[in-house]
Amino acid sequence: MDRLTVCGGAGLNGKIPISGAKNAALPCLAASLLAAKEIALTHLPAVADIRTMIKVLQALGCDVSADKSEDGFELSAIIKTDGLKNSEFKAPYDLVKTMRASILVLGPLLARFGRASVSLPGGCAIGARPVNLHLDALQRMGAEIRIDGGYVEASVTNGRLVGIDHTFDKVSVGATENIMMAACLAKGTTVLRNAAVEPEIGDLARMLQAMGAGIEGIDTPVLTIHGTDSMSGCRYAVIPDRIEAGTFICALAATGGDVTLERAAPDDLRPLIDLMTRIGCDIDEIEDCDKRDGATFKRMRVHREAGRVLKARDVSTAPHPGFPTDLQAQVMAVMTQAAGISIIKETIFENRFQHAMELERLGANLRVEGNTAIVAGLSPLTGCTVMATDLRASAALVIAGLVANGVTTIDRIYHLDRGYAGIERKLQAVGAKVQRVKGGRV
Ligand code: EPZ
Repeated sequence: MDRLTVCGGAGLNGKIPISGAKNAALPCLAASLLAAKEIALTHLPAVADIRTMIKVLQALGCDVSADKSEDGFELSAIIKTDGLKNSEFKAPYDLVKTMRASILVLGPLLARFGRASVSLPGGCAIGARPVNLHLDALQRMGAEIRIDGGYVEASVTNGRLVGIDHTFDKVSVGATENIMMAACLAKGTTVLRNAAVEPEIGDLARMLQAMGAGIEGIDTPVLTIHGTDSMSGCRYAVIPDRIEAGTFICALAATGGDVTLERAAPDDLRPLIDLMTRIGCDIDEIEDCDKRDGATFKRMRVHREAGRVLKARDVSTAPHPGFPTDLQAQVMAVMTQAAGISIIKETIFENRFQHAMELERLGANLRVEGNTAIVAGLSPLTGCTVMATDLRASAALVIAGLVANGVTTIDRIYHLDRGYAGIERKLQAVGAKVQRVKGGRV
């Protein structure tokens, strides 16, 4: 298994390109199942989860070709579903267990073909991750669902899903995405209330509109989807990854320096930008135009004078537009270096503090009480061997390693590779002393 070695103490200076959003690219790939015509997606991040989703589509019978960008950080994919031949439409366990978002093929398969067999994703390091909200809504739309041998076996008895007026019991990104996709080919209109409003959902909705879907209320908690009989192909560019950008902002906050993030999306990162400016970073937003797609994005210049001490601040995660749970671990690493006590509350997942114990190994002074971490700042960190446990926890360990004295070795960085394209190359380009050690021991 690959490891990362991080030599702490260097400030970060230079430019970092932000890749397309993993959590937008995954549902957009699943949405291609709805179209009888070719789908072209650009700015997919070149990460393991995207490669797994492509394998899932291929296992279902799709023809998928993918090309890497020059810098190797992104992929462009062409998906053709007209040759879908796998009559079972089975998303296999060995793929689904490595990437839970595979459950997002369930809604599109049911809507288009009236049947699907998708492995239950099971839990993961950060929590039980149930999918009851997905299944409840699909059953209300007319799907017959049974669990058999760890698989969701679903079929639509009268051939086509029916639109519903549905209020989710809980805000769920994946359930909102799955049902929004299913509703596109349902009979009649679907209204989804208490829908999640993460930017990645808006991106999926705009892709579905490009495919001919009639969707109102995008970026609001009430979505109205007018079902149609078929959906066209489209070419679509995925939005920048706000969590990757936020991770690099946290790294800069911890180390000090001056970094410009290219093709960023500051409007999707307001809670983090607000926090970072309050604790002592400066963030400038610069209008830019993405030459490849003609789309207008912004560059973000993030800087903190070395020697300027960060101020502690409390953080509580919440569904968008609240503070993103996917940046909680990274902010905890930053707060170990701030002056004062920071109270960090995780309200979304039941077990998302595994990075805390690893940060303690590095010398962080913190304790966890239930869903709350109390972090005493200005604790000097000393490099040692730590273990990544999940995607965002591993990013927190990289940030901590960048400020620790000496060398930090991070084991099991396959977690990191699920969601960050070439993170060590991007960090090396701005002066970080980070190396990937292939395979064996350091
Ligand atoms: C998405 O996961 C993201 N993943 C997660 O990012 C992110 O942390 C999460 O949304 C919250 O923002 C992708 O988009 C691929 P949820 P998802 O359904 O859809 C409970 C990362 O690091 N719930 O919004 O699985 C659930 O247990 C990943 O990139 C049910 O109870 O999250 C959780 O407590 C990690 N029943 C809460 O809702 C359900 O049927 C929010 O989960 C579904 C969810």
